[in-house]
Amino acid sequence: MNLSDNKATMSFSNGSPSIDLPVYAGSVGPDVIDIRKLYGQTGMFTYDPGFLSTAACQSAITYIDGDKGELRYRGYPIEQLATQCDYLDVCHLLLNGELPNTQEKKDFDLLVTSHTMVNEQMQFFLRGFRRDAHPMAVLTGLVGGMSAFYHDSTDITNPEHRHIAAIRLIAKMPTLVAMAYKYKTGQPYIYPKNSLSYSGNFLHMMFATPCEEYKVNPVLERALDRIFILHADHEQNASTSTVRLCGSSGTNPFAAIAAGVACLWGPAHGGANEACLNMLEDIQRKGGLSKVGEFMEQVKDKNSGVRLMGFGHRVYKNYDPRAKLMQETCKEVLAELGLENDPLFKLAMAVEKIALEDDYFVQRKLYPNVDFYSGIVQRAVGIPVNLFTGVFALARTSGWIAQLNEMIGDPEYKIGRPRQLFTGDTLRDVVPQAKR
Ligand code: CMC
Repeated sequence: MNLSDNKATMSFSNGSPSIDLPVYAGSVGPDVIDIRKLYGQTGMFTYDPGFLSTAACQSAITYIDGDKGELRYRGYPIEQLATQCDYLDVCHLLLNGELPNTQEKKDFDLLVTSHTMVNEQMQFFLRGFRRDAHPMAVLTGLVGGMSAFYHDSTDITNPEHRHIAAIRLIAKMPTLVAMAYKYKTGQPYIYPKNSLSYSGNFLHMMFATPCEEYKVNPVLERALDRIFILHADHEQNASTSTVRLCGSSGTNPFAAIAAGVACLWGPAHGGANEACLNMLEDIQRKGGLSKVGEFMEQVKDKNSGVRLMGFGHRVYKNYDPRAKLMQETCKEVLAELGLENDPLFKLAMAVEKIALEDDYFVQRKLYPNVDFYSGIVQRAVGIPVNLFTGVFALARTSGWIAQLNEMIGDPEYKIGRPRQLFTGDTLRDVVPQAKR
């Protein structure tokens, strides 16, 4: 973060003296006005609910240019990472800052795969849940529960501990997501198979049973790997900010990641892929293609409360670059499974076409986001709709932990403590109950 020649001057209409505020430049992207001393100098806070104009931290991990529709991890465009690397390369990149060379890749992959099993006690923990519980409720509990198992890696001030907690989380998330699925279906848990790739192993733990040989389909393996890469990190989104805020108190890293899982669940964030598929299925049930026009009218009607799920983004005011890559994968997977004529995919294409041409969406710069296609891919792979956000959580774990570790290692890091504009009652006295 470099001090810019530019500085901001804030003046006040009530005659208070104006103040100069330093401006910092990043390596790319908007500059920031440093308001840390504002309260001390003026007795005033800034007001920015939803963080529309607030950089909450400095970070060197992920860069997004929302207007151009660009996403980079550590400087590399998402398009190159998605087509030339695998998910574990990306995890290495997010955590360590560089893509691994051949030896580093071997070591890193081995390190992650040697941590894929979870403590056997986890299955008893799972047993406490109802079988019909939402997998995100189960996952929030399981990830939080991990904080009770790994007492040797919970000192976040120790870089060694932070590293091993990161590896454990990345390695064990697929196992936990698959266990949540198996618990729901009543099938036996399938232990990890370390001869398989990260995504191949996940497919195996999800869909193998002890009674039959399971062969990983390489097209589906690649598709899942791409889903993981595209969802691995996304700058200071709601769940990542949650992880940072939660971790800023110095809490156990597993607990901080559990907070991220809980935040991701919401339909405005990670839950959008599930909500999007439910939306498409709902249109399908009501008549399919012939009902798309009617549905779009509802979306445009402010009073209906209906949103086009999988469309729009706080940061992207252009096509989400992940959506383009996901659309490619979607076509590959449907072709591999002979589902090119899948009615839901056709419906999605029709919805997308209308939305891209309609003034309502064009004027508001609402484009498809990654979730618009990832749900269709996951459904084709056989992942149940209510597990979609769990798969997102699995993938985002690498980003969460990389961001958490970056924050803890930042000398400027402080516990997160936002302030408020108080609008409640001013001072008043308690009236005795009989007189209220
Ligand atoms: N359908 C219909 N109208 C929309 C939509 C949508 N999906 N998204 C935004 N709008 C309208 C909104 O009504 C508002 O219109 P107006 O200016 O007339 O009041 C305008 O566009 C701006 O919307 P906003 O709510 O102020 O935008 P935001 O930046 O706060 O919200 C969002 C971003 C992602 C929450 C929102 O676009 C949305 O709810 N999308 C659907 C849910 C979704 O797909 N979420 C996944 C995000 S990508 C995955 C992830 O990173 O988690």
